[in-house]
Amino acid sequence: MNSTSETTSNQTASLYERIGGAAAVDAAVDLFYRKVLTDYRINRFFDDINMEDQIVKQKAFFTMAFGGPNNYTGSDMRNAHARLVKMGLNNDHFNVVMEHLGATMQELNVPHELIVEAASIAESVRNDVLGK
Ligand code: HEM
Repeated sequence: MNSTSETTSNQTASLYERIGGAAAVDAAVDLFYRKVLTDYRINRFFDDINMEDQIVKQKAFFTMAFGGPNNYTGSDMRNAHARLVKMGLNNDHFNVVMEHLGATMQELNVPHELIVEAASIAESVRNDVLGK
């Protein structure tokens, strides 16, 4: 029998729990957007965006996507990014976002295997984000 409160005998804790819960997601999303907003390759997409709102939505999204509580009330990935696709959003921009996600988790000392898991979840929305 596993003794931690988040797990039962034959279930693994969610990625959200293993990564460190709300504190870890909060720290990661804050650092991630600092990187995104200072990257000339992609920051034009965020020119007119209220970043406080964006950060709140992204925290809720990743919390849900990593198997934590579902409090995400934003749009689905296809609708959320449709305007950006019209602005030219493409695979290269998506790759830059993936690069910043990975670097963020490395800086926060997330173990490599959890970074791989998180990256694969983020990668799974690529086609929706790009309207494909
Ligand atoms: C792993 C990939 C991605 C995830 C999980 C993600 C997640 C999200 C979420 C949860 C929202 C909020 C939706 C809402 O307002 O209801 C959003 C909006 C947005 N995302 Fe992404 N996104 C991803 C990739 C990208 C990329 C590659 C870019 C640009 C380089 C981008 C730029 C934006 C912008 C500018 C908005 C605000 C759109 C608006 O309010 O009009 N996202 N994204």
